Amino acid sequence: MKTATLILDRDYAIGEVDKRLFGSFIEHLGRAVYGGIYEPGHPTADQYGFRRDVMEMVRRLDVPVVRYPGGNFVSGFNWEDSIGPRESRPKRLDLAWFTTETNEVGLHEFVRWCREAGTEPMYAINLGTRGPDAARSIVEYCNHPSGTQLSDLRIKNGAKDPFGIKLWCLGNEMDGPWQICAKTAYEYGRAAHESAKLMKWVDPSIELVACGSSAYDMPTFGTWEYQMLMECYEDVDYVSLHRYYNNRAGNTPDFLARSLDLDGFIKTVVSICDAVGGTKHSKKKLNLSFDEWNVWYHSNEQDEEIKKRDRWGRALPLLEDIYNFEDALLVGALLITFLRNADRVKIACMAQLVNVIAPIMTRTGGGVWAQTIYWPLLCVSKYGRGTALRPVVKSPEYACTDYDHVPYVDATAVLREDGSIAIFAINRSMTEDIELTADLRGFGDLAVAQHLYLHHDDVNAVNTELQPENVRLQESKGGAVDGGQLRIALPRLSFNTIILAPKRN
Ligand code: AHR
Repeated sequence: MKTATLILDRDYAIGEVDKRLFGSFIEHLGRAVYGGIYEPGHPTADQYGFRRDVMEMVRRLDVPVVRYPGGNFVSGFNWEDSIGPRESRPKRLDLAWFTTETNEVGLHEFVRWCREAGTEPMYAINLGTRGPDAARSIVEYCNHPSGTQLSDLRIKNGAKDPFGIKLWCLGNEMDGPWQICAKTAYEYGRAAHESAKLMKWVDPSIELVACGSSAYDMPTFGTWEYQMLMECYEDVDYVSLHRYYNNRAGNTPDFLARSLDLDGFIKTVVSICDAVGGTKHSKKKLNLSFDEWNVWYHSNEQDEEIKKRDRWGRALPLLEDIYNFEDALLVGALLITFLRNADRVKIACMAQLVNVIAPIMTRTGGGVWAQTIYWPLLCVSKYGRGTALRPVVKSPEYACTDYDHVPYVDATAVLREDGSIAIFAINRSMTEDIELTADLRGFGDLAVAQHLYLHHDDVNAVNTELQPENVRLQESKGGAVDGGQLRIALPRLSFNTIILAPKRN
């Protein structure tokens, strides 16, 4: 059997894992809200129309933060449309997705859903059709205690206590020509600066995310970040990154190597942030918010058909990717990459949460089930909180179209509060199990408490409402620690979570 080695040392730490690394995203798009989290009349709906079965699946993921209400949607959205009595809220054309928005679920309903789901909203403001005035107004409406027209309006609308929304996105993908009222880097940087200034004057405790490029392969990538940050570096706390992967070519080894691209993307954006900070002689270090990431391509053709057939429809089944086993493996590799960059990536939102390119699927009027990508996210969210360790990994490699050296095994580890260590490891080999040997320096006597792995013989295997557990977590009993050395077999094509706990005497 081939062998890979991992060295972990108690004193080599990357830093604390910010729990917001396991965030998610719900946009007013497709069946994410209507028919996803919200479906009055569904047998499991609560008194507010939220599906309890979906809520339960969200709670299991322990999602710390949910970005809302878009996405592209937000660049044409008037937040005022989403408050007050439902019957008087306007229906509007959504020019981002060419559908109709009814505003049946709005700000108050979403905040209530977040409280129930045990999560926090990450609210995006509209810097497309709107600007600093709307931005400062919504912060005042949400976060100011009382005594002004807007804060008193919130109270009149049923929320006596301020919502206390801490995290705000300054627009969405403002560099993209598809965006409603896209901007140049300078125009955006100025709008972000002025909006941020007013928003923080209203509530100095909030944190702000500036829009980085909408993708690594945008022609303006790099110069966008540099130029817009030159205008707003001191006003914001994070810069956003978005990235979606696909396997249109049907080449699994190439596809599974895409986490190397993610790593390069993160490191490049960190360099640009530091270059701007350096140019400005600033003491401030800007961190990253990877606020959209996932696999996205399975539904592309179907979406074109739906858009042609049903322009201005409501709650259309858009972006409903059905994820297969290899997608889950890549998601696992991407999560490993986030943990390995935990010193600078503080927020990451899988896009999205329910139905729309999502780990959770529903049938309107029917059941709910976990897609394949649910499982690696659950493992890392559940076990990956604590101190990210700086791993040294040596693995046999393969070459693929974009990279000459792709390690078959990629791994990282987190030292958890209870003294246990969680190792996350992917085996990219299509054919061979690989033994992982880990040298556990300075951790004392450890034993393998649990080894969970995700594997399926067919990379195209999917979960459906009728076969919800086709791709699921399995448990192995094989590994052992002896003399400070872990030896454990990683099945071919697998994502592994290995928990090492201090031995009880
Ligand atoms: O997540 C789907 C869409 O992808 C978002 O609306 C947009 O920001 C991105 O292009």
